[in-house]
Amino acid sequence: MTDRDDLASHYATGHLLDRIKQGCAALGLAPPMEPDVFAPVDEFHIGGRAATVPFIDALQVTKDSRVLDLGCGLGGPARYVAAQTGAHVTGIDLTEEFIDTAKALTEWTGLTERVHLLMGSVMGLPFEDRSMDAAYMIHVGMNIPDKAGLTREVARVLKPGGRFAIYDVMQIGVGDMAYPAPWASEADQSALATPELYEDALTDAGFDLQDRIDRTGFARDFFANLAAAQTRANGSPPLGLHLVMGETTALKLRNMVSHIHTGLIAPIELHARLPTD
Ligand SMILES: C[S@@+](CC[C@H](N)C(=O)[O-])C[C@H]1O[C@@H](n2cnc3c(N)ncnc32)[C@H](O)[C@@H]1O
Repeated sequence: MTDRDDLASHYATGHLLDRIKQGCAALGLAPPMEPDVFAPVDEFHIGGRAATVPFIDALQVTKDSRVLDLGCGLGGPARYVAAQTGAHVTGIDLTEEFIDTAKALTEWTGLTERVHLLMGSVMGLPFEDRSMDAAYMIHVGMNIPDKAGLTREVARVLKPGGRFAIYDVMQIGVGDMAYPAPWASEADQSALATPELYEDALTDAGFDLQDRIDRTGFARDFFANLAAAQTRANGSPPLGLHLVMGETTALKLRNMVSHIHTGLIAPIELHARLPTD
């Protein structure tokens, strides 16, 4: 089985775009639409848009930046960066259904000039050396066993002084994770690693480490608020991550949240920068 097939068996449902269209119809939405309306479904990581905002701020992107989104999923963070900063963002992802859906949402939100999306692996980036000003990766490293190879590839395509930010679920305790989780149906699809392993990969690839931020407190509040909102609403909203995670959404979230509470895993941001020449 290829990486792509294996990942598709976890991430793809074959009906995602139709489900999003149905969600839009239920909310009375039709193109052209504001990118923000998709935030409940196109930000596939702990904390959604609320996590993306401070994470992206730290990258110091300007309208002249060329930015790379590694494992862009449905493209929510990429559209957010382009809409907020005017930068040109390229998103790459291995899951064909996500890229097809991301392209449709980008068209509906009128951002095709500034958001370019393509299918491919972050382990072999189809970009020139020193062609990007900044890169970020949100909740993707849990599917990437070779962190050293990944960080070398990002270092290759970034310009000197380029910033690289990672927001991943990392292993901080001892024990075994229960699956399914949002990023893996089974243990052999998961490549959880410690923050120290990521940091070693970054420094070996030539990055200077700038910051490590543990988002556990934020995550606990986020999931408590989410549970309360779902109880109040008596069910799932028309647009939400259940459209992406499918029938096992509740179990995937329960497994992840319980391991955050026991201290086995934590959502962590790492910020790094290449030296200037
Ligand atoms: C949990 S989703 C996060 C998506 C997006 N970053 C976000 O925050 O909304 C993980 C994504 O990583 C992608 N992915 C995993 N391994 C990859 C690889 N080797 N190359 C490209 N994308 C990959 C998956 O297809 C999936 O879209």
